[in-house]
Amino acid sequence: MDKKILCAPSVLAADFTEIGKEVALVEQAGGDWIHLDVMDGSFVPEITFGAQMVSHIRKVTRLPLDVHLMVDHPDRHIASFLKAGADYITFHTEAVVHAHRVVQMIREGGARAGISIVPSTPVSSILPLLPFVDLVLVMSVNPGYGGQALIPECLDKIRDLAERRESGGYDYLISIDGGVNRGTIDGVREAGTDVFVAGSAFFGAADKTEEVRFLKN
Ligand code: DX5
Ligand code: ZN
Repeated sequence: MDKKILCAPSVLAADFTEIGKEVALVEQAGGDWIHLDVMDGSFVPEITFGAQMVSHIRKVTRLPLDVHLMVDHPDRHIASFLKAGADYITFHTEAVVHAHRVVQMIREGGARAGISIVPSTPVSSILPLLPFVDLVLVMSVNPGYGGQALIPECLDKIRDLAERRESGGYDYLISIDGGVNRGTIDGVREAGTDVFVAGSAFFGAADKTEEVRFLKN
């Protein structure tokens, strides 16, 4: 029951003018992965950064880079994020028709493949992909912005995915993204989450080591 939950701080909430230092803070505080939110101004309203940023961060950390593509046509961008050194590349099922092909592109390129669903997308829409993915990212807010409140109903999807993994013999990790903080972490853990993303909770904390310790335990 008490397996280790992983913490993936999102640099979306970091100071981009100090990105190397911010990444170092994640390492020092005991963060497990670096979560990188790529937004294209089309799939979601905002624009953040692309593969060049990921390649620069790759040079300053050995932590796994967890790239979350909130972009239309993710298939057009897989090659550049592979080249940039991403460990996990997660894209949205809502953004693509041939999701299975995109999963193959990511895995054949040597990275691990994740599929993500927004709050209004049911788990049933990704059932055919579950045998093929390394990670399922459940969005617990509508993607596009940090600092939003977690939608508690999304936790049911985590439970469902954990049960399906068990009964189907699959081995994906289940990740949650959006609104994870001290007030919501208990429900997140109880649902069976393997990895949680923390943007504002991490970068807004005065004592980041203590924040990671609290959220992980
Ligand atoms: C939202 C992003 C999240 C965001 C989470 O679209 O995908 O990764 O950084 O931020 P918090 O933890 O502040 O909700
Ligand atoms: Zn994200």
